[in-house]
Amino acid sequence: MARVLTGVQSTGVPHLGNILGAMLPAIQMSNQPENEAFLFIADLHSLTTVRSAEVLRNNTYGTAAAWLAFGFDTAKNTFYRQSDVPEVTELAWYLNCFTPFPMLANAHSFKDKASRLSDVNAGLFTYPVLMAADIILYDADVVPVGKDQKQHLEMTRDIANAVNHKYGEVFVIPESQIDENVMIVPGVDGQKMSKSYNNFIDIFLPEKQLRKQVMKIVSDGKSLEDVKDPEDSVIVDLYALLADDKQLAQMKASYLAGNYGYGHAKQALFEVIMDRFSKERAEHVRLMADVNVMDDVLLEGANKAKLVAQNTLSRVREKFGYHS
Ligand code: ADP
Ligand code: TRP
Repeated sequence: MARVLTGVQSTGVPHLGNILGAMLPAIQMSNQPENEAFLFIADLHSLTTVRSAEVLRNNTYGTAAAWLAFGFDTAKNTFYRQSDVPEVTELAWYLNCFTPFPMLANAHSFKDKASRLSDVNAGLFTYPVLMAADIILYDADVVPVGKDQKQHLEMTRDIANAVNHKYGEVFVIPESQIDENVMIVPGVDGQKMSKSYNNFIDIFLPEKQLRKQVMKIVSDGKSLEDVKDPEDSVIVDLYALLADDKQLAQMKASYLAGNYGYGHAKQALFEVIMDRFSKERAEHVRLMADVNVMDDVLLEGANKAKLVAQNTLSRVREKFGYHS
């Protein structure tokens, strides 16, 4: 069995781009019999920027509810909150002592954040070390991440190798898995859908608000009667990701025939979203209405994770000369 591990940020609820580009492929991979997935919500990392307990808590539940609504199998796999296994912070300290200062100072994501944020705290600086601890603590073999996390994975391997070099085979050296052909879901303004561009579609919103988001999709100024180009339309691009072949062919034909407005196309897109995700939407509402159920699931996951974590830590303590 390969241990596949990944962390998800909890800055808001996953949007349609995250769902199609990252969550559904990850769930598919976790269902493979040859894989065992560790999936956690990186809520300790969130404290580098979030300054509200309520926001932090809600984001965690919203994110967990999305994964559960899409059927992530928490019995086969291990699903937990990073903060429920504080052992990771102990390992992060040990790893800090093997992390060259210039390596962190040169990290792209740190330099980027440091130039944008007014609060440049040390947590932001050592973010990659906590991430390395997330991975190393659980003896992960494979870590699927987006391209932007590639450098963090390289650092993780460097840190783990530095320890192994001094102390023998202490850590498993993880491989990153970066899918270069990941689909790019466009946002309502036609750019890549992203939380940071505020152009996302949140499929878990109540019907009216969701419809409003869909209606915000940009289109050119053509009037109802005009013939429209289906190859140059964000609405069609999004519809293609969700509708079946027949529905898509029908929308394209309507574009070319005229007397079909962008409003009609957006309505069709809205309906396909409601239809395709009706089960997940209902499940999300149900989960958010009673977060105790999620607490139970997450704590059960944390207990499974803790067993692995404690094992790794006692191995490390013994190697470093601490009482284990
Ligand atoms: P955001 O840009 O909204 O902050 P993240 O950077 O947190 O999203 O991405 C989380 C995961 O979702 C990553 O694996 C990323 O590749 C994927 N993802 C994000 N936006 C999109 C998109 N528009 N299309 C496809 N996948 C996406
Ligand atoms: N830094 C990752 C991101 O921004 C989230 C993350 C935290 C992570 N710890 C991890 C991803 C460990 C993979 C493995 O998306």
